[in-house]
Amino acid sequence: MAVDQEKELAARTSLRFVRDGSVVGLGSGSTAAYAVRLLGERVRAGLQIRGIPTSVQTQGLAASLGIPLTTLEEVQQIDVTVDGTDEFDPELRLIKGGGGALLREKIVASATRQEIIIADSSKQVSVLGKFPLPVEVIRFAQALVSKKISALGATVQLRKNTAGEPFITDEGHHILDCHFEQIPDPPALAYTLSEIPGVVEHGLFIDLADVVLVGNGSEVLELRRKPHS
Ligand code: 5RP
Repeated sequence: MAVDQEKELAARTSLRFVRDGSVVGLGSGSTAAYAVRLLGERVRAGLQIRGIPTSVQTQGLAASLGIPLTTLEEVQQIDVTVDGTDEFDPELRLIKGGGGALLREKIVASATRQEIIIADSSKQVSVLGKFPLPVEVIRFAQALVSKKISALGATVQLRKNTAGEPFITDEGHHILDCHFEQIPDPPALAYTLSEIPGVVEHGLFIDLADVVLVGNGSEVLELRRKPHS
């Protein structure tokens, strides 16, 4: 319950970053869904935005709320995106993909001027890696990629759905959940993973989050990414 309150508070605060006339990236997961529902209320009250959803699920939610949607064919620059996260560290580096939408989420983040991440306080960590890192893979290469990531020190599990079958992403791929426990050098791991043939995308988001809004009890902390020195 307290967690849900923190999620909702963070989502409510994120609406301050959404201006009339904006193109808005719509994140995925339970925290982002709070923001989408609140945006739906604002749209019904007259706010004019166009949304770019980061998953089929969010697309359905936004459409059901009457939020006008657009695509990356129509616009290649997104003003602001509001999304959730599975973990964030003091440098606002993230692990995302717990809901399986990391590929579209990263594409949308990369095309966004201001990436706003909303989270409850349990997502804050000093070192990334307790949450298993999702890696989206081409099915053909899954066993090979799994072996290579295991050799990096992770315990690797193929994600399954509730029926016990492999989870299929919106883009038709599989996900490997990689338990590293600690990721002391996220940029180095991100580079290594992206060099493995068959890896479509990984859930490390580095230098993409501009602001993290963390629900903390009854208040919201606003953390801003510092430029590299
Ligand atoms: C989906 C994501 C979500 O943002 C992340 O899993 C957080 O989800 P929740 O808000 O439900 O905890 O990355 O791919």
